[in-house]
Amino acid sequence: MKNFHSLCMVNGSWVRSSDEKTFEIANPATKAPLSSVPALTSSDVIMAVDNSAKAFETWKNMPARTRSDILISIANLLTERLEEFASTITSEQGKPLSEARGEVMYAAHYFRWFSEEAVRINGDIIPADSPTKRILVLKQPIGLVAAITPWNFPLAMLARKAAAALAAGCSFIAKPAPETPLTALALGGLALEAGLPAGVFNVVTGDAEMIGEIFMSSPLVKKVTFTGSTEVGKILIRKSAETVKKLTLELGGNAPFIVNEDADLEKAIEGAIYGKFRNAGQTCVCVNRFLVHKKVVEDFTTMLSARIDKLVVGNGLNPDSDVGPLISQEAHAKVSRLVEMAKQMGASIIPSACAIPNGSTFFTPTIVANVKPEMQIWHEEIFGPVCALATFSNDEEAITLANDTQYGLAAYIYSKDLSRAMVMSERLEFGMVGINDTAISSVQAPFGGIKQSGFGREGSKYGIDEYLVLKYLSVQM
Ligand code: SIN
Repeated sequence: MKNFHSLCMVNGSWVRSSDEKTFEIANPATKAPLSSVPALTSSDVIMAVDNSAKAFETWKNMPARTRSDILISIANLLTERLEEFASTITSEQGKPLSEARGEVMYAAHYFRWFSEEAVRINGDIIPADSPTKRILVLKQPIGLVAAITPWNFPLAMLARKAAAALAAGCSFIAKPAPETPLTALALGGLALEAGLPAGVFNVVTGDAEMIGEIFMSSPLVKKVTFTGSTEVGKILIRKSAETVKKLTLELGGNAPFIVNEDADLEKAIEGAIYGKFRNAGQTCVCVNRFLVHKKVVEDFTTMLSARIDKLVVGNGLNPDSDVGPLISQEAHAKVSRLVEMAKQMGASIIPSACAIPNGSTFFTPTIVANVKPEMQIWHEEIFGPVCALATFSNDEEAITLANDTQYGLAAYIYSKDLSRAMVMSERLEFGMVGINDTAISSVQAPFGGIKQSGFGREGSKYGIDEYLVLKYLSVQM
């Protein structure tokens, strides 16, 4: 069996729980145990937070160039260890190895990008009213940042947060999802190897509620960044009131994929496959509702169904697999329930011809046609390889249907008429819109949502601002 990191990274050392308790991690494709990791006690976590807050004092005073060089080393090491990290991601998360490799490079790019931003945290000098006065604006790191990261991208979501926070001069403590801590722990070791001072980057594992509570209530933690469900995001918003803590929240989505009657259907199908089946449909920006113009719905459905039939569903470690398992039995039950309820309310189910391995949480890629806004599948994030299809007759109706959700993360439009697509995209209530494109996630672009999909932006030139505070100096000369 492969050797996984099975201890927490705290203050530059690998640590166990002080009561020796652990919990098991298994491969979702086979259910085979992979490793166990510490179930830290609350006093272990409090100590880790204390140490990380102390490390902030060292890290914030390091020259920006030194911080930048260390981040570049992390990017380089990740690239060198591409295969090792990819196989850890696939083993604990289930996604196909090709996607896991993509995730490692995506993560390395965040470290590279923010190594470049670290040396460009420029302030401002603002003309004042009086000739003897100067107004200076400084950008300073906010302090210790705590991150709560999801299981769907165990490395990239951690990298997107950590790279920006570390570049800004913040120290960092992460709690990875209980399903996928092994990749985060491996990153903890790699960060130390790259030269990060002890205590600047920490990874703690254990009871999610207890750790979250400590992060939220500690006055030492100045900022919490979270990727996960809207439900948990709302709890964090409530808890942040206690210490008036700054938050970045990347929450759920319900992405519409609008296919206008003038769309290039071949391109739309390729976009649909990537936008729906990446990570077995388990991403916040995955297409949730296909809204297809009535004139092309028949062709679109036939073509989509034929393309889906070619997908290979299987263990992510098998190089032929396109779609891995769902993360858990509960996830599988939820997706099945959404499909079943839609069927009972009149939707037509078109299962694919894909062969499905037995005995795990693999889900048959499925089209659910004739979906209506009164169905739960319309409003809930599916998080599985299921295409929910509805129709529209004109642009106005498409926009109204697309915006009919509490979420506002990503949306997609396919049309050959770019002007029309631009006008429509400006009316979509979403933080990100792909026009003839579903590969919208990239380090250069601001990732984030509006409405109940959260607030704050990750990546891009804006991402570092989430970890900086402005201080202004009023100088009388
Ligand atoms: C997510 O699912 O939260 C993010 C996926 C991405 O960066 O594409």
